[in-house]
Amino acid sequence: MNRPPHFNLLARVLHWSMAAAILAMLFIGAAMVVSLRYREALLDLHRPLGLAILLLAIVRLVNRLRHPPPPLPPDLPRLQAWAAKASHWLLYALMFAMPIVGWAMLSAGAYPVELFAGVNLPPILPHSPVMYGFLRPLHGVLAYMLFFTILAHLGAALFHAWVRRDGVFSQMARGK
Ligand code: HEM
Repeated sequence: MNRPPHFNLLARVLHWSMAAAILAMLFIGAAMVVSLRYREALLDLHRPLGLAILLLAIVRLVNRLRHPPPPLPPDLPRLQAWAAKASHWLLYALMFAMPIVGWAMLSAGAYPVELFAGVNLPPILPHSPVMYGFLRPLHGVLAYMLFFTILAHLGAALFHAWVRRDGVFSQMARGK
């Protein structure tokens, strides 16, 4: 397969804009469960931004499957190459799981899934307190997983940029 030297423009725009949106969502989520004063305002931001992340994740996955990524350096130890690929697919899985679990838990709790004033999404699960009791903590556990996977991803990216200096960082940072 012919591999390009850099990720395409759409992949790079989605990577950096979604990185900002997902980090914002993690902090908005953490803030809204501890603040009574800003809870409603933060939730009003959390729902539409979470849904936007789900839609962008679909575009990103389709683009990723249609355009092969640039290759990893041939001298990268096999364990590191495996860890890179596994963590990338874990990030994809979590980008989908977080918003779907958020939407599903509100549905199970019979809460309205309001995007904007007057615009509600349909429930994706029937009302079930038991299911809500399972999905609500799952949303928190997955958020921790996402946060630690992002930290590992960032650490690896900086390791490539500053220690190995092997061009992996620039594959996502710039075009040709
Ligand atoms: C990438 C997407 C998302 C991320 C990163 C994210 C992150 C978070 C985080 C970190 C928390 C706090 C968890 C805790 O302390 O247990 C949270 C809570 C919550 N999220 Fe999300 N979330 C996302 C998508 C969504 C979506 C799409 C919805 C609904 C449509 C949603 C609804 C909620 C609700 C209702 C809470 C908890 C409110 C409460 O019980 O206090 N989330 N989220």
